[in-house]
Amino acid sequence: MSSSSLTFCAYPGGRLAGTLRVPGDKSISHRSIMFGALADGETTVEGFLTGEDCLCTMKAFQMMGVRIERTGETSLRIRGAGLHGLKSPDGPLDLGNSGTSMRLMAGLLSGQTFTGTLVGDASLSRRPMKRIIAPLEQMGARIESNDGKAPLNILPHRKLHAISYRSPVASAQIKSGILLAGLYADGKTEVFEPEASRDHTERMLRAFGVRVEARPGYAALEGGQPLRATHVRVPADISSAAFFMVGAAIVPGSEIVLSEVGVNPTRTGIIDVLRAMGADIELLNPRQFGDEPVADIRVRGRGLTGVKIGKELVAAAIDEFPIIFIAAAFAKGETVVEGAEELRVKESDRIQSMCDGLRALGVSAIALPDGMRVAGGRMRGGTVDARGDHRIAMSFAIAALRAEQPITILDCANVNTSFPGFAALARRAGLDLRVRG
Ligand code: S3P
Repeated sequence: MSSSSLTFCAYPGGRLAGTLRVPGDKSISHRSIMFGALADGETTVEGFLTGEDCLCTMKAFQMMGVRIERTGETSLRIRGAGLHGLKSPDGPLDLGNSGTSMRLMAGLLSGQTFTGTLVGDASLSRRPMKRIIAPLEQMGARIESNDGKAPLNILPHRKLHAISYRSPVASAQIKSGILLAGLYADGKTEVFEPEASRDHTERMLRAFGVRVEARPGYAALEGGQPLRATHVRVPADISSAAFFMVGAAIVPGSEIVLSEVGVNPTRTGIIDVLRAMGADIELLNPRQFGDEPVADIRVRGRGLTGVKIGKELVAAAIDEFPIIFIAAAFAKGETVVEGAEELRVKESDRIQSMCDGLRALGVSAIALPDGMRVAGGRMRGGTVDARGDHRIAMSFAIAALRAEQPITILDCANVNTSFPGFAALARRAGLDLRVRG
Protein backbone atom coordinates (compact mmCIF):
# COMPACT_ATOMS: atom_id res chain seq x y z
CA MET A 1 0.00 0.00 0.00
CA SER A 2 2.40 2.71 1.19
CA SER A 3 5.86 3.07 -0.27
CA SER A 4 8.53 2.98 2.41
CA SER A 5 10.62 5.59 0.63
CA LEU A 6 9.04 8.70 2.15
CA THR A 7 11.54 10.69 4.21
CA PHE A 8 10.90 13.60 6.57
CA CYS A 9 13.55 16.28 7.23
CA ALA A 10 12.68 18.38 10.24
CA TYR A 11 14.62 21.51 11.19
CA PRO A 12 15.23 22.99 14.62
CA GLY A 13 14.19 26.36 15.87
CA GLY A 14 10.44 26.53 15.38
CA ARG A 15 7.85 27.55 17.90
CA LEU A 16 4.24 26.30 17.68
CA ALA A 17 1.38 28.78 17.55
CA GLY A 18 -2.24 29.07 16.46
CA THR A 19 -5.45 27.08 16.54
CA LEU A 20 -5.38 23.66 14.89
CA ARG A 21 -7.94 20.99 14.18
CA VAL A 22 -6.28 17.60 13.80
CA PRO A 23 -8.17 14.88 11.87
CA GLY A 24 -10.90 12.66 13.28
CA ASP A 25 -10.42 10.00 15.92
CA LYS A 26 -9.21 6.72 14.42
CA SER A 27 -10.89 4.40 16.94
CA ILE A 28 -14.25 6.15 16.62
CA SER A 29 -14.03 6.34 12.81
CA HIS A 30 -13.44 2.56 12.49
CA ARG A 31 -16.38 1.85 14.76
CA SER A 32 -18.67 4.25 12.91
CA ILE A 33 -18.23 2.17 9.74
CA MET A 34 -18.59 -1.18 11.48
CA PHE A 35 -21.66 -0.31 13.53
CA GLY A 36 -23.21 1.71 10.69
CA ALA A 37 -22.80 -1.35 8.46
CA LEU A 38 -24.53 -3.65 10.99
CA ALA A 39 -27.35 -1.23 11.75
CA ASP A 40 -30.85 -1.08 10.33
CA GLY A 41 -31.23 2.20 8.42
CA GLU A 42 -28.95 4.96 7.22
CA THR A 43 -26.09 6.15 9.41
CA THR A 44 -24.37 9.46 8.70
CA VAL A 45 -20.86 10.26 9.90
CA GLU A 46 -19.16 13.64 10.10
CA GLY A 47 -15.50 14.28 10.90
CA PHE A 48 -14.52 10.79 9.68
CA LEU A 49 -10.77 10.12 9.56
CA THR A 50 -9.79 9.52 5.95
CA GLY A 51 -6.49 7.87 6.93
CA GLU A 52 -5.52 4.62 5.25
CA ASP A 53 -6.45 2.45 8.27
CA CYS A 54 -10.06 3.61 8.28
CA LEU A 55 -10.27 3.51 4.50
CA CYS A 56 -9.28 -0.19 4.73
CA THR A 57 -12.20 -0.78 7.08
CA MET A 58 -14.51 1.09 4.74
CA LYS A 59 -13.36 -0.92 1.71
CA ALA A 60 -13.74 -4.21 3.60
CA PHE A 61 -17.40 -3.45 4.35
CA GLN A 62 -18.01 -2.32 0.79
CA MET A 63 -16.66 -5.72 -0.28
CA MET A 64 -19.26 -7.29 2.00
CA GLY A 65 -22.02 -5.49 0.13
CA VAL A 66 -22.48 -2.42 2.33
CA ARG A 67 -23.19 0.83 0.46
CA ILE A 68 -20.97 3.56 1.85
CA GLU A 69 -20.82 6.91 0.11
CA ARG A 70 -18.47 9.81 0.75
CA THR A 71 -20.83 12.77 0.94
CA GLY A 72 -18.08 15.32 1.63
CA GLU A 73 -14.41 15.60 2.51
CA THR A 74 -14.92 13.85 5.88
CA SER A 75 -18.56 12.85 5.82
CA LEU A 76 -20.17 9.54 4.95
CA ARG A 77 -23.53 7.94 4.42
CA ILE A 78 -23.74 4.25 5.29
CA ARG A 79 -26.71 2.16 4.16
CA GLY A 80 -26.82 -0.39 7.01
CA ALA A 81 -27.14 -4.06 6.05
CA GLY A 82 -28.54 -5.14 9.44
CA LEU A 83 -26.99 -7.64 11.83
CA HIS A 84 -27.44 -10.51 9.38
CA GLY A 85 -27.14 -8.67 6.07
CA LEU A 86 -23.41 -8.80 5.23
CA LYS A 87 -22.52 -10.64 2.01
CA SER A 88 -19.68 -13.04 1.33
CA PRO A 89 -16.80 -10.96 -0.09
CA ASP A 90 -15.21 -11.78 -3.45
CA GLY A 91 -11.71 -12.10 -2.06
CA PRO A 92 -9.57 -11.47 1.03
CA LEU A 93 -10.26 -8.32 3.02
CA ASP A 94 -7.02 -6.30 3.06
CA LEU A 95 -6.71 -4.38 6.32
CA GLY A 96 -3.33 -2.84 5.55
CA ASN A 97 -1.54 -1.68 8.71
CA SER A 98 -4.62 -1.68 10.94
CA GLY A 99 -4.69 -3.86 14.07
CA THR A 100 -8.03 -2.37 15.13
CA SER A 101 -9.67 -3.44 11.86
CA MET A 102 -8.29 -6.95 12.12
CA ARG A 103 -9.13 -7.67 15.75
CA LEU A 104 -12.62 -6.12 15.67
CA MET A 105 -13.47 -7.71 12.35
CA ALA A 106 -12.25 -11.10 13.55
CA GLY A 107 -15.02 -10.89 16.16
CA LEU A 108 -17.62 -9.61 13.77
CA LEU A 109 -16.82 -12.19 11.07
CA SER A 110 -17.00 -15.00 13.63
CA GLY A 111 -20.75 -14.39 13.67
CA GLN A 112 -21.27 -14.64 9.89
CA THR A 113 -22.48 -17.57 7.80
CA PHE A 114 -19.70 -17.17 5.19
CA THR A 115 -15.92 -17.49 5.24
CA GLY A 116 -13.96 -14.26 5.56
CA THR A 117 -10.21 -13.95 5.07
CA LEU A 118 -8.39 -11.08 6.77
CA VAL A 119 -4.96 -10.08 5.50
CA GLY A 120 -2.62 -7.22 6.31
CA ASP A 121 0.74 -5.67 5.47
CA ALA A 122 4.10 -6.97 6.77
CA SER A 123 3.74 -5.18 10.13
CA LEU A 124 0.18 -6.38 10.76
CA SER A 125 1.16 -9.93 9.71
CA ARG A 126 3.75 -9.96 12.53
CA ARG A 127 1.34 -8.83 15.28
CA PRO A 128 -0.21 -11.27 17.78
CA MET A 129 -3.72 -12.45 16.93
CA LYS A 130 -3.95 -15.38 19.38
CA ARG A 131 -5.19 -12.87 21.95
CA ILE A 132 -8.39 -12.48 19.92
CA ILE A 133 -8.52 -15.97 18.34
CA ALA A 134 -8.50 -17.75 21.73
CA PRO A 135 -11.62 -16.10 23.22
CA LEU A 136 -13.46 -16.27 19.90
CA GLU A 137 -12.75 -20.01 19.70
CA GLN A 138 -14.14 -20.35 23.22
CA MET A 139 -17.34 -18.83 21.83
CA GLY A 140 -17.46 -21.48 19.09
CA ALA A 141 -15.75 -19.61 16.25
CA ARG A 142 -13.53 -21.51 13.83
CA ILE A 143 -10.43 -19.56 12.84
CA GLU A 144 -7.40 -20.67 10.84
CA SER A 145 -4.25 -18.61 11.20
CA ASN A 146 -0.58 -18.62 10.44
CA ASP A 147 0.47 -19.83 13.89
CA GLY A 148 -1.55 -17.16 15.68
CA LYS A 149 -0.83 -14.43 13.11
CA ALA A 150 -2.55 -13.10 9.97
CA PRO A 151 -3.79 -14.14 7.46
CA LEU A 152 -6.88 -15.21 9.39
CA ASN A 153 -9.46 -17.44 7.78
CA ILE A 154 -12.70 -17.14 9.66
CA LEU A 155 -14.98 -20.03 8.80
CA PRO A 156 -18.80 -19.96 8.87
CA HIS A 157 -20.04 -20.42 12.40
CA ARG A 158 -22.27 -23.12 13.81
CA LYS A 159 -23.67 -21.16 16.72
CA LEU A 160 -21.72 -18.81 18.95
CA HIS A 161 -22.29 -18.94 22.67
CA ALA A 162 -21.68 -16.18 25.17
CA ILE A 163 -18.60 -16.33 27.39
CA SER A 164 -17.39 -14.53 30.46
CA TYR A 165 -13.80 -13.66 29.55
CA ARG A 166 -11.00 -12.43 31.79
CA SER A 167 -8.57 -10.78 29.41
CA PRO A 168 -4.93 -11.03 30.47
CA VAL A 169 -4.24 -7.64 28.80
CA ALA A 170 -6.08 -4.35 28.87
CA SER A 171 -6.96 -4.09 25.18
CA ALA A 172 -9.95 -2.35 23.66
CA GLN A 173 -9.32 -4.30 20.48
CA ILE A 174 -9.76 -7.64 22.26
CA LYS A 175 -12.72 -6.40 24.31
CA SER A 176 -14.44 -4.97 21.23
CA GLY A 177 -13.80 -8.06 19.08
CA ILE A 178 -15.43 -10.22 21.76
CA LEU A 179 -18.39 -7.86 22.19
CA LEU A 180 -18.97 -7.82 18.42
CA ALA A 181 -19.00 -11.63 18.37
CA GLY A 182 -21.27 -11.40 21.43
CA LEU A 183 -23.92 -9.69 19.30
CA TYR A 184 -24.21 -13.02 17.46
CA ALA A 185 -24.06 -15.25 20.55
CA ASP A 186 -26.76 -16.78 22.73
CA GLY A 187 -26.74 -15.18 26.16
CA LYS A 188 -24.67 -12.51 27.90
CA THR A 189 -21.07 -11.97 26.80
CA GLU A 190 -18.84 -10.38 29.43
CA VAL A 191 -15.27 -9.07 29.32
CA PHE A 192 -13.17 -8.26 32.39
CA GLU A 193 -9.88 -6.37 31.99
CA PRO A 194 -6.92 -5.81 34.31
CA GLU A 195 -7.07 -2.02 33.61
CA ALA A 196 -9.76 0.01 31.87
CA SER A 197 -9.13 0.20 28.12
CA ARG A 198 -10.81 2.77 25.86
CA ASP A 199 -14.60 2.44 25.90
CA HIS A 200 -15.64 3.81 22.49
CA THR A 201 -17.32 0.52 21.56
CA GLU A 202 -19.53 0.57 24.63
CA ARG A 203 -20.48 4.23 24.15
CA MET A 204 -21.14 3.94 20.43
CA LEU A 205 -23.11 0.69 20.68
CA ARG A 206 -25.39 2.49 23.12
CA ALA A 207 -25.80 5.33 20.64
CA PHE A 208 -26.89 2.64 18.14
CA GLY A 209 -29.55 1.49 20.61
CA VAL A 210 -27.78 -1.57 22.05
CA ARG A 211 -28.04 -2.18 25.80
CA VAL A 212 -24.49 -2.46 27.12
CA GLU A 213 -23.39 -2.79 30.74
CA ALA A 214 -20.14 -0.96 31.25
CA ARG A 215 -17.90 0.23 34.04
CA PRO A 216 -14.12 0.65 34.10
CA GLY A 217 -12.59 -2.79 33.51
CA TYR A 218 -15.89 -4.47 32.61
CA ALA A 219 -18.27 -4.60 29.63
CA ALA A 220 -21.17 -6.91 28.80
CA LEU A 221 -24.05 -7.27 26.35
CA GLU A 222 -26.83 -9.72 25.47
CA GLY A 223 -26.65 -11.30 22.03
CA GLY A 224 -29.22 -10.77 19.28
CA GLN A 225 -29.79 -7.04 19.83
CA PRO A 226 -30.31 -5.06 16.63
CA LEU A 227 -28.43 -1.81 15.96
CA ARG A 228 -30.44 1.29 15.02
CA ALA A 229 -28.83 3.74 12.58
CA THR A 230 -27.75 7.07 14.01
CA HIS A 231 -25.59 10.14 13.35
CA VAL A 232 -21.97 9.95 14.48
CA ARG A 233 -19.94 13.12 15.01
CA VAL A 234 -16.27 12.17 15.29
CA PRO A 235 -14.09 14.33 17.59
CA ALA A 236 -10.50 15.22 16.67
CA ASP A 237 -8.12 12.45 17.67
CA ILE A 238 -6.29 13.09 20.95
CA SER A 239 -3.60 10.68 19.76
CA SER A 240 -2.90 13.01 16.81
CA ALA A 241 -3.30 16.15 18.94
CA ALA A 242 -0.67 14.69 21.30
CA PHE A 243 2.15 15.46 18.85
CA PHE A 244 1.28 19.16 18.89
CA MET A 245 0.60 19.16 22.63
CA VAL A 246 4.12 17.92 23.26
CA GLY A 247 5.56 20.16 20.51
CA ALA A 248 4.11 23.19 22.28
CA ALA A 249 4.96 21.96 25.78
CA ILE A 250 8.68 21.50 25.05
CA VAL A 251 9.24 24.91 23.43
CA PRO A 252 8.96 27.91 25.77
CA GLY A 253 6.99 30.67 24.05
CA SER A 254 4.74 28.28 22.15
CA GLU A 255 0.98 28.55 22.56
CA ILE A 256 -1.50 26.45 20.65
CA VAL A 257 -5.15 25.53 20.89
CA LEU A 258 -6.22 22.14 19.55
CA SER A 259 -9.91 22.29 18.78
CA GLU A 260 -12.68 19.71 19.15
CA VAL A 261 -10.43 17.07 20.69
CA GLY A 262 -12.01 13.92 22.13
CA VAL A 263 -11.31 13.86 25.87
CA ASN A 264 -12.90 10.55 26.79
CA PRO A 265 -11.32 9.74 30.19
CA THR A 266 -10.03 6.39 28.86
CA ARG A 267 -7.86 8.38 26.42
CA THR A 268 -6.55 11.36 28.38
CA GLY A 269 -3.46 9.77 29.92
CA ILE A 270 -1.31 12.12 27.82
CA ILE A 271 -2.81 15.12 29.64
CA ASP A 272 -2.13 13.52 33.05
CA VAL A 273 1.44 12.64 32.07
CA LEU A 274 2.25 16.08 30.67
CA ARG A 275 0.70 17.83 33.68
CA ALA A 276 2.74 15.59 35.98
CA MET A 277 5.80 16.78 34.02
CA GLY A 278 4.80 20.38 34.74
CA ALA A 279 3.14 21.28 31.43
CA ASP A 280 0.66 24.17 31.22
CA ILE A 281 -2.50 22.59 29.75
CA GLU A 282 -6.06 23.89 29.93
CA LEU A 283 -9.26 22.24 28.72
CA LEU A 284 -11.56 24.91 27.31
CA ASN A 285 -15.20 24.82 26.30
CA PRO A 286 -16.03 21.24 27.37
CA ARG A 287 -18.97 19.75 25.47
CA GLN A 288 -20.33 16.48 24.04
CA PHE A 289 -20.29 15.04 20.53
CA GLY A 290 -23.03 12.48 21.08
CA ASP A 291 -21.76 10.16 23.82
CA GLU A 292 -18.15 11.37 23.61
CA PRO A 293 -16.77 14.31 25.62
CA VAL A 294 -14.86 16.95 23.66
CA ALA A 295 -12.85 20.05 24.56
CA ASP A 296 -10.43 22.56 23.06
CA ILE A 297 -6.99 22.01 24.55
CA ARG A 298 -4.66 24.95 25.13
CA VAL A 299 -0.98 24.24 25.71
CA ARG A 300 1.66 26.83 26.55
CA GLY A 301 5.34 25.98 26.45
CA ARG A 302 7.46 25.92 29.58
CA GLY A 303 10.15 23.64 31.03
CA LEU A 304 9.21 20.02 31.80
CA THR A 305 10.50 17.74 34.54
CA GLY A 306 11.04 13.98 34.34
CA VAL A 307 8.43 11.65 35.90
CA LYS A 308 7.85 8.03 36.76
CA ILE A 309 4.97 6.49 34.80
CA GLY A 310 3.57 3.18 36.04
CA LYS A 311 1.04 0.62 34.88
CA GLU A 312 -2.01 2.60 36.03
CA LEU A 313 -1.42 5.31 33.42
CA VAL A 314 -0.47 3.04 30.52
CA ALA A 315 -3.84 2.05 29.01
CA ALA A 316 -5.10 5.64 28.83
CA ALA A 317 -1.94 6.79 27.03
CA ILE A 318 -1.05 3.62 25.14
CA ASP A 319 -0.60 5.26 21.71
CA GLU A 320 1.12 8.35 23.09
CA PHE A 321 4.31 6.79 24.46
CA PRO A 322 6.44 7.55 21.39
CA ILE A 323 5.77 11.27 21.84
CA ILE A 324 5.97 10.98 25.66
CA PHE A 325 9.53 9.67 25.21
CA ILE A 326 10.28 12.82 23.21
CA ALA A 327 8.88 14.99 26.01
CA ALA A 328 11.10 13.00 28.40
CA ALA A 329 14.18 13.66 26.27
CA PHE A 330 13.76 17.42 26.83
CA ALA A 331 12.69 17.25 30.48
CA LYS A 332 14.88 18.02 33.46
CA GLY A 333 15.98 14.77 35.08
CA GLU A 334 15.05 11.18 34.36
CA THR A 335 11.75 9.74 33.13
CA VAL A 336 10.97 6.07 33.78
CA VAL A 337 8.13 4.21 32.08
CA GLU A 338 7.14 0.77 33.38
CA GLY A 339 4.26 -1.64 32.83
CA ALA A 340 4.06 -0.79 29.13
CA GLU A 341 5.13 -4.10 27.54
CA GLU A 342 2.20 -3.74 25.09
CA LEU A 343 4.32 -1.16 23.27
CA ARG A 344 6.41 -4.03 21.93
CA VAL A 345 3.51 -5.37 19.82
CA LYS A 346 2.24 -2.18 18.21
CA GLU A 347 2.86 -1.16 14.55
CA SER A 348 6.55 -1.58 15.44
CA ASP A 349 8.25 -2.52 18.71
CA ARG A 350 7.85 1.01 20.02
CA ILE A 351 10.23 0.56 22.93
CA GLN A 352 13.03 -0.50 20.60
CA SER A 353 12.20 1.92 17.77
CA MET A 354 12.14 4.90 20.12
CA CYS A 355 15.16 3.83 22.16
CA ASP A 356 17.30 3.27 19.05
CA GLY A 357 16.16 6.57 17.55
CA LEU A 358 16.80 8.57 20.73
CA ARG A 359 20.26 7.05 21.09
CA ALA A 360 21.07 7.82 17.44
CA LEU A 361 20.33 11.46 18.34
CA GLY A 362 22.63 11.40 21.34
CA VAL A 363 19.98 11.01 24.06
CA SER A 364 20.77 8.63 26.88
CA ALA A 365 17.96 6.03 26.85
CA ILE A 366 17.81 2.46 28.13
CA ALA A 367 15.15 0.03 26.93
CA LEU A 368 13.44 -2.03 29.65
CA PRO A 369 11.37 -5.15 28.92
CA ASP A 370 8.23 -3.13 29.75
CA GLY A 371 9.27 0.47 29.19
CA MET A 372 12.24 2.82 29.08
CA ARG A 373 14.52 5.07 31.11
CA VAL A 374 15.26 8.39 29.43
CA ALA A 375 17.69 10.96 30.79
CA GLY A 376 16.45 14.37 29.73
CA GLY A 377 18.81 17.00 28.37
CA ARG A 378 20.13 17.81 24.95
CA MET A 379 19.37 16.21 21.61
CA ARG A 380 21.77 16.41 18.68
CA GLY A 381 20.43 15.92 15.17
CA GLY A 382 20.95 12.97 12.86
CA THR A 383 19.08 10.23 11.08
CA VAL A 384 16.51 7.86 12.59
CA ASP A 385 14.43 5.06 11.13
CA ALA A 386 10.65 5.20 11.73
CA ARG A 387 10.39 1.49 10.76
CA GLY A 388 7.15 2.14 8.92
CA ASP A 389 5.48 3.18 12.19
CA HIS A 390 3.40 6.37 11.82
CA ARG A 391 3.72 7.46 15.44
CA ILE A 392 7.50 7.00 15.52
CA ALA A 393 7.82 9.16 12.39
CA MET A 394 5.68 12.00 13.77
CA SER A 395 7.36 11.89 17.18
CA PHE A 396 10.86 12.45 15.78
CA ALA A 397 9.56 15.19 13.48
CA ILE A 398 8.27 17.09 16.54
CA ALA A 399 11.55 16.44 18.39
CA ALA A 400 13.37 18.57 15.82
CA LEU A 401 11.78 21.69 17.35
CA ARG A 402 14.29 21.43 20.20
CA ALA A 403 17.12 19.44 18.59
CA GLU A 404 20.48 21.10 17.90
CA GLN A 405 20.66 19.95 14.27
CA PRO A 406 18.09 18.73 11.71
CA ILE A 407 16.56 15.28 12.08
CA THR A 408 16.09 13.07 9.03
CA ILE A 409 13.44 10.39 9.48
CA LEU A 410 13.29 7.40 7.13
CA ASP A 411 10.27 5.24 6.22
CA CYS A 412 7.50 7.73 6.97
CA ALA A 413 4.81 6.86 4.39
CA ASN A 414 2.58 5.22 7.00
CA VAL A 415 1.92 8.59 8.63
CA ASN A 416 -1.03 8.50 6.24
CA THR A 417 -2.54 5.57 8.13
CA SER A 418 -3.64 7.84 10.97
CA PHE A 419 -2.78 11.44 10.13
CA PRO A 420 -3.27 12.51 6.52
CA GLY A 421 -1.96 16.07 6.12
CA PHE A 422 0.39 15.90 9.11
CA ALA A 423 3.31 17.59 7.34
CA ALA A 424 1.19 20.50 6.09
CA LEU A 425 -0.46 21.04 9.48
CA ALA A 426 2.89 20.84 11.28
CA ARG A 427 4.31 23.48 8.92
CA ARG A 428 1.29 25.69 9.52
CA ALA A 429 1.82 25.35 13.25
CA GLY A 430 5.46 26.43 12.98
CA LEU A 431 7.63 23.33 12.42
CA ASP A 432 10.00 23.48 9.45
CA LEU A 433 9.29 20.04 8.01
CA ARG A 434 10.13 18.95 4.48
CA VAL A 435 9.01 15.74 2.83
CA ARG A 436 11.08 13.87 0.24
CA GLY A 437 10.37 10.81 -1.88
C1 S3P B 1 -7.47 0.78 19.65
C2 S3P B 1 -6.99 0.21 20.80
C3 S3P B 1 -5.59 0.26 21.21
C4 S3P B 1 -4.76 1.25 20.41
C5 S3P B 1 -5.11 1.26 18.95
C6 S3P B 1 -6.58 1.52 18.73
C7 S3P B 1 -8.90 0.66 19.34
O1 S3P B 1 -5.06 -1.04 21.08
O2 S3P B 1 -3.38 0.99 20.55
O3 S3P B 1 -4.37 2.26 18.27
O4 S3P B 1 -9.40 1.41 18.48
O5 S3P B 1 -9.58 -0.18 19.96
P1 S3P B 1 -5.20 -2.10 22.28
O6 S3P B 1 -6.55 -1.89 22.83
O7 S3P B 1 -5.02 -3.45 21.71
O8 S3P B 1 -4.10 -1.69 23.24
